[in-house]
Amino acid sequence: MYFSSIISAVALLFTPSVLADVPLITNATEYIDLANSQGGFPSQTFRSSAIVAPIFFVNKWEKDQVDDAPFVFLGTVYGEWKAGPMIFDARDMSLIYADQRYENTYTSNVHIINGSRYFAFWEGGHTRGHANGNCLFFDEDYNLRYTVTAQGLGDAEADMHELSVTKDDSVIFSTYFNIPYDCSSVGGPDNALLMDSGFQEVDAATNRVLTDDGNYLVSSRHLSLLTLVDGKDGHPIWILGGRKNQFTDLSNGEATNIGWQHDARILPSNSTGETHITLFDNHGEYSGVCQEKCQTRALHIAIDPVALTARVVSQFFHPENIDSGAMGGYQTLDSGNVMTGWGHNPGFVEYKSDGMPVMDIQRGIIGGEVLADMFAYRVNKGDWTGRPPWPPTVVADAPNGNTLEATIYVSWNGATDVASWAIFASDDHRTISNYTNLIAESPRQGFETIISLASEDISRRYLAAAAVSASGDVLSSTIVIDLENDGQPAIVTSDIVSLKPPSPPPPPPSPSPQSSPVPPTSPSPPSPPSPSPSVSSGEQSLSTGTLGVMSGSVFSVVGIFYAGAFYWRKKARLRRGHGEEGYRMVDMRD
Ligand SMILES: *[C@@H]1O[C@H](CO)[C@@H](O)[C@H](O)[C@H]1NC(C)=O
Ligand SMILES: *[C@@H]1O[C@H](CO)[C@@H](O)[C@H](O)[C@H]1NC(C)=O
Ligand SMILES: *[C@@H]1O[C@H](CO)[C@@H](O)[C@H](O)[C@H]1NC(C)=O
Ligand SMILES: *[C@@H]1O[C@H](CO)[C@@H](O)[C@H](O)[C@H]1NC(C)=O
Repeated sequence: MYFSSIISAVALLFTPSVLADVPLITNATEYIDLANSQGGFPSQTFRSSAIVAPIFFVNKWEKDQVDDAPFVFLGTVYGEWKAGPMIFDARDMSLIYADQRYENTYTSNVHIINGSRYFAFWEGGHTRGHANGNCLFFDEDYNLRYTVTAQGLGDAEADMHELSVTKDDSVIFSTYFNIPYDCSSVGGPDNALLMDSGFQEVDAATNRVLTDDGNYLVSSRHLSLLTLVDGKDGHPIWILGGRKNQFTDLSNGEATNIGWQHDARILPSNSTGETHITLFDNHGEYSGVCQEKCQTRALHIAIDPVALTARVVSQFFHPENIDSGAMGGYQTLDSGNVMTGWGHNPGFVEYKSDGMPVMDIQRGIIGGEVLADMFAYRVNKGDWTGRPPWPPTVVADAPNGNTLEATIYVSWNGATDVASWAIFASDDHRTISNYTNLIAESPRQGFETIISLASEDISRRYLAAAAVSASGDVLSSTIVIDLENDGQPAIVTSDIVSLKPPSPPPPPPSPSPQSSPVPPTSPSPPSPPSPSPSVSSGEQSLSTGTLGVMSGSVFSVVGIFYAGAFYWRKKARLRRGHGEEGYRMVDMRD
């Protein structure tokens, strides 16, 4: 941890800081009580931010055994229009970033486009099992760079279930759209609308639908099958599982008896004979404590697409004996470890490749009643560098109207590089950035750091904080607050650029100050969409899908698998979610 050596006019206070974040909970009774007292959503709030963050429960965490990807990505909902993707520090699960201004968000993860990392997720409105919205891609400065959605399907937009980036920088997502259909054969009207489903591959920069010569892995949850679909004419090249399974099962039926599954992916592989596929096999629609024997599994199979044989490579069950009937995800990490999201049971488990669970964490109660919005649809690990364009935020409790015995709360939503905080105080807000006004430093502690200026003789009216990197550089600084006026903003930026006296002759290249005008009070105001392509930089750190191959909880584009399952009369549709009015749905759970 860096601390500057300061020649200062005032005594520098190396202040013990306190973690504002609620610590991880390891006592199940305590966690269940907390969940029950909070409507099933164990959550915490902060002083310096309006963000709501989960409180996690840890069943198990072997810190030396987990994959070393530094961040965990999760999409969560905390109330009406408070859904948003979140990034957590994988070392302690403290919140790094949340952007909570959406109706719903799913599939939060990092993807590589043109060699640069993007934080991407789906946002939009959903109606029981399908949805209409957009795939958003933010760069590491949190600028929205790509907004990708369905094209040419009337009012149908991108569905929430899948967001996959190919190595050609195209984006694949699932779609649900209505087609006129004669449903008289199943007792419906002849002029009905049938909800069909499919997928599109779209160029991220132009939103143009691509026609790809590659083939597509399509996972149909309701048909309990995987099929490789020919990219040119849409015919199924092979079908694994379901009623029309074509594969000989070399694992006593365990490789092909998948059911109600999610997140099927072809693993990149250089072997010629076999294709490796991973998926979250819900294996039924039951969610809760396993009955007799656990069914839901993280499944890795290998198939020989010529000999049409399939075998189980590995399968992992939940360490707490939980089945999950809906949602779920499977991510193969660089180390070979596997990260799983348990869907309707809001937990995530990382396994060693031999199946040993090394991290088992919950954001809510598992094994009990399924709560709307309390789920872990997909949970991913990955790398990220967050450089927010907005400044850090500071608030203070100042019982004396000055720094004497004041308590300072600081955070910087989205910043990944903060190692410590520096507190500056002055009776003249105009010169507060002078290094001689540095009165305290403290290591960063979780999302929010609390600094108590308990001590002695420094009583000053104005205060500001600077976020400091591990190498001692000021990354950005807060506005100035007026402690005499209840800590209200003094409506000036603090412009702190250094903790050190200016060096004499050649000024060293220091990081540029973030001197925005009056900063927003909300910590996360990303910029409007701009479709400009990014410049490439950075290293490729995440494995994306094999060329031209994706998967999805989508139904086939070649056959109308849903005919007879449900239908509805033609009615005006709402722009989003198709509305429920006029539906006659038999089974639309996801
Ligand atoms: C868990 O918390 C409960 C309630 O606070 C307490 O009674 C119990 O002793 C704790 N269990 C352990 C193992 O600490
Ligand atoms: C092929 O895969 C093996 C292990 O999966 C790896 O050790 C080897 O380097 C790979 N070869 C190439 C050419 O990528
Ligand atoms: C900072 O404050 C010190 C002490 O008051 C003063 O000598 C110095 O000139 C100030 N520096 C600037 C750049 O104003
Ligand atoms: C990637 O870079 C190429 C070349 O600069 C550009 O043509 C393309 O549009 C970029 N792709 C995306 C998705 O931005």
